[in-house]
Amino acid sequence: MNIHDKSRYHEVHARSLKDPEGFWAEAAREIDWIEPAKKVFDPTSGAYGRWFAGAVVNTCYNALDRHVAGGRADQTALIHDSPLTNSISKFTYAELLHEVKTLAAIMQDFGVTKGDRVILYMPLVPEAVVAMLACARIGAVHSVVFGGFAAKELATRIDDARPKLIFSASCGIEPGRIVQYKPLLDEAIALASSKPSACVILQRPQHGCDLIAGRDHDWATLRKDAIAAKKSADCVPVLATDPLYILYTSGTTGVPKGVVRDNGGHLVALKWSMFNLYGIKPGEVWWCGSDIGWVVGHSYIVYGPLIHGATSIMYEGKPVGTPDAGAFWRVISEHKAVALFTAPTAFRAIRKEDPEGKFIRQYDLSKFRTLFLAGERADPPTVEWAEQQLKVPVIDHWWQTETGWCIAGNPVGLGMLPVKHGSPTVPMPGYQVDVVDESAKPVPANTMGSIVIKLPMPPACLPTLWQQEERFKEAYLSEFPGYYKTSDAGYKDEDGYVWVMGRTDDIINVAGHRLSTGGMEEILASHADVAECAVLGIKDAIKGEVPCGFLVLKAGVTRKPADIEKEIIALVRDKLGPVAAFKLAITVGRLPKTRSGKILRGTIKKIADGDSWTMPATIEDPKVLDEIGEALKGRV
Ligand code: COA
Ligand code: AMP
Repeated sequence: MNIHDKSRYHEVHARSLKDPEGFWAEAAREIDWIEPAKKVFDPTSGAYGRWFAGAVVNTCYNALDRHVAGGRADQTALIHDSPLTNSISKFTYAELLHEVKTLAAIMQDFGVTKGDRVILYMPLVPEAVVAMLACARIGAVHSVVFGGFAAKELATRIDDARPKLIFSASCGIEPGRIVQYKPLLDEAIALASSKPSACVILQRPQHGCDLIAGRDHDWATLRKDAIAAKKSADCVPVLATDPLYILYTSGTTGVPKGVVRDNGGHLVALKWSMFNLYGIKPGEVWWCGSDIGWVVGHSYIVYGPLIHGATSIMYEGKPVGTPDAGAFWRVISEHKAVALFTAPTAFRAIRKEDPEGKFIRQYDLSKFRTLFLAGERADPPTVEWAEQQLKVPVIDHWWQTETGWCIAGNPVGLGMLPVKHGSPTVPMPGYQVDVVDESAKPVPANTMGSIVIKLPMPPACLPTLWQQEERFKEAYLSEFPGYYKTSDAGYKDEDGYVWVMGRTDDIINVAGHRLSTGGMEEILASHADVAECAVLGIKDAIKGEVPCGFLVLKAGVTRKPADIEKEIIALVRDKLGPVAAFKLAITVGRLPKTRSGKILRGTIKKIADGDSWTMPATIEDPKVLDEIGEALKGRV
C-alpha cells in the first residue's frame, strides 16, 4: 500500500498547483467579502503578483461581527488564562466585539484612519487582542512589538512604521519579576525621530506607571468614557491587498525587516488552515501557546481561530514554573482544548522537569487530540517523548514570519500522512517547495540544498517589506530567479517529505525566537574595549540554541576580561532585550580566519558544540582553533 493512500492530501495539493486560482477562489467562499475579487490572482501587480486583487473586505468583520450575527454571540471567543496573575477571564464573541467597537471608536477620536500605523508594545493580555482587532476594524495597520525587546529595538520599529498611536501597558509579568514597560516605551520614543501623537496605556494592578501629560492616556478611563458616551466604530472597508499588519523580524543585518501581511489572502489561507491543517471545527477550543509578538501568535492566537469561529486560549505563563511542569495539562483539561500549538523548547523544558510525565497523568486530557510544534526544528527525541506521554499525534510544521502560515505540515483535516520524526512532512497547498543548488537547479531527492518556494507564493505570504520593495526583491527573490528564498537549508526525500535542517544566513533560533547574530555583533562591536567579535548559536538542551559571543579586545586594554564580558552581556540585554538570552561572552586572543579574512564561524560552532570538525583548508593559522578550544573549556 502506498503510504499516502488514506489522505486526500496529494489530490488537494496537486490541484492547488495545477489551478491555483480555482483552488483559492473556492477557499475564498468561506470569507464574507464586501466586493469579490476582480482577479483571484493578478500577476501584473506587486513584486510577484497579488491575491484577490480588487476585492473589498474587512478582517475584523470576518473575525467577530459575522459570528455574532451568525449565532455565536454567546460562544466564548477568547479565554485569557494567566497563572502569572492568578486569573482567568473569558470573552464571548459579543463581548469581544463590543470591546473592539469601543476601542476602534477611541482610536478614531485620536484621528487614526485607514492606512495609519499603530504600534502595540504589550504583554499577553486580552486588551492586546482587542487593540489588534480594533486596528483591523478601521483599516489601521498594526505592528506588534514583542515585550521582550529593549527600547532601542522598539525605537527602530517606531522609526520605520511611524505610528500615529502606540498602545502599551504599565508592565509585563515574568516569573519572579515585573517588567516595567513604560520606562522602555519612554526611552524608545525619546530615541526615535518619529514621535507618535498619543499613547494609550493600560495600567495593570501589579505595577502602575506615571503618564506623561498631553501624550499618554489611561486606557481604562478612555474605555469607561467611550462606553458611557455609547461610542462605537463600524467596520471600514479595505482592499484585500491593503496591509493588515506589519511584523518586524530579524534580518541579516541589525535592521529588522517589516513583513507586510495583507487582508484578503491572509483571511483565506488562515481560514483554510484551521480545519484542513489543524483539524479544528468552529466552536472547538484551540490553544496556541505563543506570544502575540510573534507571527504564530498573530495567526493562531488571534486571527485564525477567530476567523474560524473557534474559541482561542491566550496563556500568560510558562510551560514550567507557573507553578509547575503540569501547567500545560491544567490549561488543556480546564478549558477542554482539543489541540495545542507550541514550540519544541516548551516540551524540552517540561520533559526536563517531569521526565516520567507524572503531571500529565493528573489531568483529564480526554478532549485533547493533537499537538502541533513549530518555531524551530522539532528534534526527534522531543517528538518521541511527547508522543509516548500524550498518546496523540505530534505534528511538526515549518513556517516563517514571512509566510504567515505553514509551508510544510501534516494536514489533519485532509487526513494525516505518516509522521517521520525530524521532518515537518509535506508542502501545504499553494506551496511548490523545491530544493536547489547555487544555480537554482533542483537537486535530486535526499540531497541537501537551499529550500525555495516557486513563485507565486500562496495567499497570506508577504507581498513585500514595509516601504522597502527593493530590499524585498533583493533579500528574497533575486538569488534564485522565479523562486522565493526561504534561507533555510535541507532536502526532500523520496516521498516528497521536506527536511529543514538549518538556516543559510546569520539567523539563530533561541527558544523558538528568531534572532540575528549579525545584529548582536553590532552591539558587541559598539563596546569601547572590543576590537573584533563573532557571535554564533551554540547547542542548548532546552532552548535549542543560545548565542555565544567571542571578543578580541583592543590592544592596550588592561581591564579584566571577566569585567568586560559582564558589561557585554548587560549591553546586549539593554540594547536588544532579555529575549536574546545572551549570557555567554568569551574573550580570546584572536579569531580563526580564512586567508581572505573571513571569520570561520562554522568551525568555532562545531568546536563549541563538541561536534567533529575538519581543519578548513583555507585557514590562515590553524593554531587559533586550539586557542578557541582552550578558551571554551569550562565555559560551555
Ligand atoms: N517581556 C519581557 N521579557 C520577556 C518576555 C516578555 N514578553 N518574554 C520573555 N522574556 C524574558 C524572559 O523573562 C527571559 O529573561 P531572563 O533572562 O531574565 O530569564 C528572557 O526573556 C528569555 O525568554 P525565553 O526565551 O522565553 O525563555 P524563558 O527562560 O522565559 O523560558 C522556556 C524558556 C524554557 C520556558 C521555553 O521553553 C519557552 O517555552 N519559551 C517560549 C517559546 C515560545 O513561545 N516561542 C514562540 C515561537 S512559537
Ligand atoms: P520565524 O520567522 O520566527 O517564525 O522563524 C522562522 C524560522 O524558524 C524558519 O526559517 C526556520 O529556520 C525555523 N523554523 C520554524 N519552524 C520550523 C520547523 N518546524 N522546522 C525547522 N525549522 C523551523
